[in-house]
Amino acid sequence: MGRPMPLEGPLEDAFGRRIRNLRVSLIDRCNFRCTYCMPAEGLEWLPRDEILTFDEIERLVRLAVTLGIDEIRLTGGEPTLRPQLPELIARLSAIPGLKSLALTTNGFLLRKLVPDLAAAGLTRINVSLDTLDAHKFAAITRRNAIKAVLDGLEALEEVPSIHPIKVNAVAVRGFTTDDDILAFAELARRKPYVIRFIEFMPLDADGHWDRMQVLSGDEIKRIIEAVYPLVPVRVGASSTARVYRFADGSGEMGFINPVSQPFCASCDRIRLTADGQLRTCLFSIDETNLRDPMRIGAPDSELELLLRHAIWRKELKHHINEGPSFKRASRSMSQIGG
Ligand code: GTP
Ligand code: 5AD
Ligand code: SF4
Repeated sequence: MGRPMPLEGPLEDAFGRRIRNLRVSLIDRCNFRCTYCMPAEGLEWLPRDEILTFDEIERLVRLAVTLGIDEIRLTGGEPTLRPQLPELIARLSAIPGLKSLALTTNGFLLRKLVPDLAAAGLTRINVSLDTLDAHKFAAITRRNAIKAVLDGLEALEEVPSIHPIKVNAVAVRGFTTDDDILAFAELARRKPYVIRFIEFMPLDADGHWDRMQVLSGDEIKRIIEAVYPLVPVRVGASSTARVYRFADGSGEMGFINPVSQPFCASCDRIRLTADGQLRTCLFSIDETNLRDPMRIGAPDSELELLLRHAIWRKELKHHINEGPSFKRASRSMSQIGG
């Protein structure tokens, strides 16, 4: 018998992991159709009345923050498609105790939104960009949109309050070449962007993921180091990325290696889907419905208990590397928020 679940104090799971980070998906729709995420024709979208309102999101975030969560990341689908996003950010950034309010976006609508996001109190941003080659960008996202994303990144350089600017590049063997990798290294040396390569995970809606397509972070790092030597940078214990700086000058690159070097033992994250389901792992099969209890009048004390019970049962780890015992998550990436 292990320890009993604490009914007060910090949010903890049965393995002793403290939960400090909540990722909130605002919408399941996206304006891109990245091949490693969504089918070309899109998915069946959630009906509007199933999606949490701003009042409901704010209530759950306030409760989470009183329970020790101090980092919130807004995700999608594509979170910038949620109408009035800056208003929600302003409401959340005013919550006492919140240390970090971040956004993960594909960057397409960023350029116009940057001033409003900054004014609303956004503190950190991660922009997805898988290649710097315009043709390859169009092939992987199925949208001709690289210029908009690069313009969005440039607009971010004008607002010091949103910092750091991170770029996420999903690496797929057979797609990501040495040229792509070195072009990103050169961008990281030239621009104030922390560029992070992410190993492809089996979360694509098509179910086409295949281990052979995983280009590991170590392989990418070796390609960079052959040209630009790297030096490790210290990061927080729960960081998804291993981070390095260039030995000969400015610029940082990170490697998110969930497949080749799982980081589940230090995971401090939980997730809320756009329709108000709590997921305690990216690869969860079960969810905890927070929306319906909230809609039939559950008090905070009851929501807190639902949160504590779900978190206590948080999955030990993912099983991507365990062959046939691996079961795909109950939703695909765009419906979870990454
Ligand atoms: P930072 O706090 O800025 O480092 O952000 P992050 O890396 O936590 O978030 P981001 O939205 O940029 O996600 C980058 C990649 O890491 C995406 O592919 C996510 O799916 C993946 N990721 C984030 N959290 C987890 C996690 O808990 N487990 C796994 N396996 N992957 C994760
Ligand atoms: N594997 C790894 N990362 C993925 N992302 C989307 N789908 C996958 C996948 N199958 C990334 C996006 C975004 C982040 C939230 O997750 O590119 O940067
Ligand atoms: Fe955490 Fe699950 Fe991601 Fe592992 S796979 S780091 S347990 S969310």
